[in-house]
Amino acid sequence: MALQLGDEAPDFTAETTEGTIHFHEWLGSSWGVLFSHPKDFTPVCTTELGRVSALKPEFDKRNVKVAGLSVDSLSSHKDWAGDIKETQGHALNFPLIADDKREVADKYGMIHPKANDTLTVRSVFVIGPDKKIKLTLTYPASTGRNFDELLRVIDSLQLTAKHKVATPVDWKQGGDVIIVPSVSDADAKAQFPQGWKTLKPYLRVVAQPK
Ligand code: BEZ
Repeated sequence: MALQLGDEAPDFTAETTEGTIHFHEWLGSSWGVLFSHPKDFTPVCTTELGRVSALKPEFDKRNVKVAGLSVDSLSSHKDWAGDIKETQGHALNFPLIADDKREVADKYGMIHPKANDTLTVRSVFVIGPDKKIKLTLTYPASTGRNFDELLRVIDSLQLTAKHKVATPVDWKQGGDVIIVPSVSDADAKAQFPQGWKTLKPYLRVVAQPK
């Protein structure tokens, strides 16, 4: 069965462009993003890996460790890294997992045979400090992902892990949020002493907590 939200992210040991990693140990107490791309030396993937490298400081700021993966060899990854730096202006600065035996891809269900029976699709797993899967995304090979959206989602996940709020459509860091329906008005008074706006009894809007 496919991995679902709340499942433990499978552990593994793998060779990467930054040496061998034992996944859970490598994550430590950080958040994690594990994402697959279909193949080295392909155009969309080259742009994606350049973008993730450019955004590395943003992931660091959020205490998120990022690892990429495809079913290519370590030597292929290392050769391709030169093209990423040359064409995208950012050198690869996070581990790229060499999964030529498909061990990790199979554990995470990253190969969707009806799309392609040998290559990984563009999967994304966001993993919390408790090693549980907090978010999954699946894009086809032909569509590059929007990694700013991934950062936006991580901001929401980290905020909602800490406070009893949910984030509305198109929410961005600093925007108003919603008090979750399980919090009574009496409890909300203690948690949000500055007050909130009630649009409907189930739709209470409050400034983003710090
Ligand atoms: C790409 O990254 O450009 C790509 C990879 C596999 C299939 C189609 C596109």
